[in-house]
Amino acid sequence: MKLFIDTANVSEITEAASWGILDGVTTNPSLVAKEGRSYRNLVAEICQIVPGPVSAEVIATDADGMEREGRELATIAENVVIKLPITRDGIKVCARFAEEGIPTNLTLCFSPAQALLVAKAGATYVSPFVGRLDDIGQDGMQLIREIVQIYDAYEFPTQVLVASVRHPQHVVESTLAGADVATVPFKILEQLFHHPLTDIGLQRFLADYRAAKDVH
Ligand code: G3P
Repeated sequence: MKLFIDTANVSEITEAASWGILDGVTTNPSLVAKEGRSYRNLVAEICQIVPGPVSAEVIATDADGMEREGRELATIAENVVIKLPITRDGIKVCARFAEEGIPTNLTLCFSPAQALLVAKAGATYVSPFVGRLDDIGQDGMQLIREIVQIYDAYEFPTQVLVASVRHPQHVVESTLAGADVATVPFKILEQLFHHPLTDIGLQRFLADYRAAKDVH
């Protein structure tokens, strides 16, 4: 199970990378817009901080435009993964890139049917959005279970990258469902560390140690 961070913020990425648990980064146009920086420079900096895969998304919506932008993004660093939306044009470009070995992450996946097309097109990753399905009263994790079942049954190599993660339980359930990756916002990565019994236990260990005369 790989853990990616879902952010374009360099401080968050640097801090999470220092913990020694980070496998990659995903960005999207909304996250990049928040940083107010040149897209190319930002992606280049992120790729230097994290050696693992860094997803950078195209803005164009037509196949030729996506292909042009994708090829441009791919020149930034060797670990760039081209993020494409699951549209007819996005799938078309994904298939072209797959033939050339250019890694892709197909985003905005909300159904098993879309995930099937993504695998058929030879994508490296599919990004199902669990939180946004939960938001409209559907079961986001059920989608993950179904995609994992389909990919396992046909031995599709496309990796299931759980996105739109909103709380630690989404991460745990992704692991139990057999997903390959969860991409997690910084705040939720921090939450993964915490358990009240760990805090209480540590306080007690230290208090006991300080109270014992013979170890001083
Ligand atoms: O990167 C895509 C995805 O993780 C977005 O999450 O919280 O905006 O639904 P969210």
